[in-house]
Amino acid sequence: MASEYPALVALKPRLAAVASLDATALAAEETAVLGRKQGVITSLLKEVATLPIEEKRTFGAAVNALKLEFEAAFAARNAEIAAAARELEKRDVDLTMPGRDSWPGNLHPVSVVVKEIVEIFRGLGFSVALGPEVETEELNFLALNFPADHPAMDMHDTLYLETQGAERAVGEKLLLRTHTSPVQIRVMRGGKPPFRVVIPGTVYRNDAFDPSHAPAFTQIEGLAVDEGITFVDLKATLSHFARRFLGADTVVRFRPSFFPFTEPSAEMDVRCKLCEGQGCSACKGTGWMEILGCGMVHEKVLINCGIDPEKYTGFAFGMGPQRIAMQRYGLPDIRLLYGGDMRFLTRYGNIGR
Ligand code: PHE
Repeated sequence: MASEYPALVALKPRLAAVASLDATALAAEETAVLGRKQGVITSLLKEVATLPIEEKRTFGAAVNALKLEFEAAFAARNAEIAAAARELEKRDVDLTMPGRDSWPGNLHPVSVVVKEIVEIFRGLGFSVALGPEVETEELNFLALNFPADHPAMDMHDTLYLETQGAERAVGEKLLLRTHTSPVQIRVMRGGKPPFRVVIPGTVYRNDAFDPSHAPAFTQIEGLAVDEGITFVDLKATLSHFARRFLGADTVVRFRPSFFPFTEPSAEMDVRCKLCEGQGCSACKGTGWMEILGCGMVHEKVLINCGIDPEKYTGFAFGMGPQRIAMQRYGLPDIRLLYGGDMRFLTRYGNIGR
């Protein structure tokens, strides 16, 4: 019957579509078709009232038939959706529960600094060497020309490991390495010159945490041994490093210093980036920031490793990535680098959120 009336034929596709509507669309469509005020079918029924008596009967019957079909379709679809919802409830799924948050991981700011420094030295032909964190007194001190029982060893506030049973002989005592320099000895004893290595690693000292000290921190050691290496190579290599790491306009200076395993020894400073050398709180008013210790490998150290100091010379250096990270990021307290505070780590890590 409906097929005789174009206005009703036009509604057939909408009737067919009801079976695939979701809950929201279904409610809207029900109002649009059967709604008391503006529903399409409702309006058609109102029209019926205005028609001549014959048409009233046939058209009215056709509209009512279509209305019943729509009502049946809406009822069936509503029942289907309700059944699906009950099914989900049975499975204990709480559709209102918020999803789990997640964020990408990133490297710790100290790891970022270590990676960058190592990459610069790799570019100069250095390779990476590693050593153990538990060392002997021999490698950590004696082979590096620290005299036994000399106050120089106190410089390092060493954490010795407890040894059970008989007291170990001098040199054989075990300790947590206080610097990465013992790996110099391991490298030199383990091969033949030339050597060009950088050695990143964790070192330990019997220090309490304060704004500029930590009981465990990172060092990057460097060692170059070959024929004809001079202090000029040391200065050129480390100046190049500073300019690559901190920018081409970086100004460096070398100050005389002392380490038992280098002679002569120096400390390298860079002119403070924050105040351009004027003096500020970051550089404690000096205009300079200390970056690393360095020197020519002491001939006694070469001899301790079976290397002929008449033939070979070398330079070594050691720096602290935590200190460097503090200077680079303007951090007032080293403990920020140990806290694991996500706000800090996402701000200074390499990816961020
Ligand atoms: N090992 C020294 C320190 O921990 C740093 C250093 C390394 C100095 C190599 C000179 C040469 O302070």
